[in-house]
Amino acid sequence: MAADPHHASGPVVLAGEATEDWAGDARYHEYSAAADPVGSGAIPRVPIEQFAADLHHGPGSRILPLDLSSALGTPYPATSPALLAAFMVLDPGDTLTTYPDATSELYYCLEGGGSSTFVRTGPATAPTTGTVRWSTGDVVTLPAGCTTEHTSDPTGRAVLYRVTDAPLLAYLGASPGPAQFAPTRYDAATSLARLDEVARHPDAASRNRVSILLGNVAQPRTLTATHTLWAMLGILPVDRVQRPHRHQSVALDLIVSCRPGCYSLVGSRVDDDGAIIDPVRVDWQGGGAFVTPPGLWHSHHNESGAPAYLLPIQDAGLHTYLRSLDIRFAPSGG
Ligand SMILES: [Fe+2]
Repeated sequence: MAADPHHASGPVVLAGEATEDWAGDARYHEYSAAADPVGSGAIPRVPIEQFAADLHHGPGSRILPLDLSSALGTPYPATSPALLAAFMVLDPGDTLTTYPDATSELYYCLEGGGSSTFVRTGPATAPTTGTVRWSTGDVVTLPAGCTTEHTSDPTGRAVLYRVTDAPLLAYLGASPGPAQFAPTRYDAATSLARLDEVARHPDAASRNRVSILLGNVAQPRTLTATHTLWAMLGILPVDRVQRPHRHQSVALDLIVSCRPGCYSLVGSRVDDDGAIIDPVRVDWQGGGAFVTPPGLWHSHHNESGAPAYLLPIQDAGLHTYLRSLDIRFAPSGG
């Protein structure tokens, strides 16, 4: 008997299944050989990878996924196991359409201005249609189910940095369900004003970060931008060293602006003074992006003579829900 045509791409269920013993797919691993698949190499580690700003220079409207699927071993585009980042370039007055394949979408406008008109399918827990205007420095989040036309102003090109949790859904074999939050815009001027308040605080010099975290009224427990995505707008002041920390979330770090001389050090261990042992140096580039893998210590350094701005986006909403973020700060040494 033929397989159910509605499940032609999945496991074949044959007639007479009641006599099938269902044991054919079972595997039995000796514990020590299978307890640490990352350590053994059965599943690859998340690489430290950089993406140059050149990728979004020049004309031609395009969506350019920052795709590390070959390194991650996924059959779908992915920048980290759970997240996919992309640069979206829009020629003046042009439109690019994105489709619903995620529970959360986050956009940062690197250049220009325009609007995003969404049509949302699914239960009416959030507006079903709308238009969000954006300009340089704005952040926009969109929930599950949005088919969205992004259009730049006719007067100039626009560049967006887009991060979604599409790889997480692809891994789960899940489709976007109800919206977990409403479309939200974080105004650039408001964000910078809040950041300035933080920077001017008397305790700013002693804090590990001079940053604001983007939250949403719908996320009162994780305190994140969406239920899966975490986003931070930070300033790295002149001559500042932000001491090492680590977390189990992956960071897709966007460098909003900087002069040459800013960099991160990344490594797996710190010494008794909190310095990273045998670090990899990642030089920052304004408009560029890089991946900070989970669990690695990282510090930020500004020897450029000018303040630098960064916008790391992480799957830390998901990790916070799972209680697995495990953020730690290195000892300050003696
Ligand atoms: Fe970090």
